[in-house]
Amino acid sequence: MDLALYHPEWGYYSRRDDDPGFREVGRKGDFYTSVSVGDTFGRLLAHRLLMAWEADFQRQQPLVVVEQGGHDGRLARDILAALGEIGGHLPGSFEYRLVEPRASLRETLERELKATPVPGLRVCASLEEARAPAGIFLCNELLDAFPVDLLFFSGGAWHERRVGWDEDESRPCWVTAPLRPEWRDFVSSLGGGFPEGCQTEICTAVDAWMVEAARLFERGLWWIIDYGHERADYYLPQRTTGTLRTYHQHRAGEDPFAHPGEQDLTAHVDFTRVEEAATRGGLARRLFTDQHHFLIEAARPWLLSLEGMRPDPLTVKRLRQFQTLTHPAMMGQHFKVMELAKLDA
Ligand SMILES: C[S@@+](CC[C@H](N)C(=O)[O-])C[C@H]1O[C@@H](n2cnc3c(N)ncnc32)[C@H](O)[C@@H]1O
Repeated sequence: MDLALYHPEWGYYSRRDDDPGFREVGRKGDFYTSVSVGDTFGRLLAHRLLMAWEADFQRQQPLVVVEQGGHDGRLARDILAALGEIGGHLPGSFEYRLVEPRASLRETLERELKATPVPGLRVCASLEEARAPAGIFLCNELLDAFPVDLLFFSGGAWHERRVGWDEDESRPCWVTAPLRPEWRDFVSSLGGGFPEGCQTEICTAVDAWMVEAARLFERGLWWIIDYGHERADYYLPQRTTGTLRTYHQHRAGEDPFAHPGEQDLTAHVDFTRVEEAATRGGLARRLFTDQHHFLIEAARPWLLSLEGMRPDPLTVKRLRQFQTLTHPAMMGQHFKVMELAKLDA
């Protein structure tokens, strides 16, 4: 999964010499995200940032916002544009740091920023470089793009499913391997009732990443937005095929070996794992809710400002985006938000 997504030359998310831009997300790409729905997601996050800036950071200046997995920087631009518009703060109150560890993508971002500068936005090579005394971290659909390992239930026990080659070595295929000893406690904590042939995932990359991300600020908030579940729900025996999925030209599939490097691979997030790692990093969970509730709260000032007004065409467009982002049958319930906090320092 790591190679298929991030191989420097062939990976789905890597920049190629013949394709210097970013992988398209949205209508022209393989999948939609809340960011690709339109600028309303960024505007609502900007409202939420302003609320936190006032309530939790006493209007501290500058407040540093760090985003990782920001792809082509669209959310960063949307948020900064909205912060400028909805106001209530001085210019320079917010600094935005976009973390992009891959040099080729960082160069592309920097080139684009040179062509159309965004005051307050800078690109950092690592979380370490983005560190600040106080701030808010956010990521949208970062963790679902982390490589996972597969667990496979066979012969009454959990095994690992790895990538191997078929008999004539012409095609990759699954091979079953004994479970790593360090995962034994974890799988026994999942309980019983799993049927023969059941498959699920484990994303250990979250552990070190979360602990590192927790070091970003002495005082801060961390917003992790993604699809996923808490553990008891994630590892239900009824979910016999797990959550690893492929996306190619807006069609979901289940064959990770198809279109290598040309389709997205993704798995749901085990939010309990995120919280456990965050706790080890000194953070406390403040909120775990769905996108519907998180954005409705953020939208309150905007919706109140529209009361009694006939909406102009731009507002009508944004209200439509708002519905896509928050309606429980669209993106509202599927996406979750975990807010972690370290505010005592
Ligand atoms: C599903 S896309 C989401 C893009 C964007 N956040 C959005 O919502 O439209 C996942 C993004 O995470 C990026 N990514 C994965 N691992 C990363 C890492 N360790 N640091 C920064 N970005 C990463 C990928 O390159 C890709 O751009």
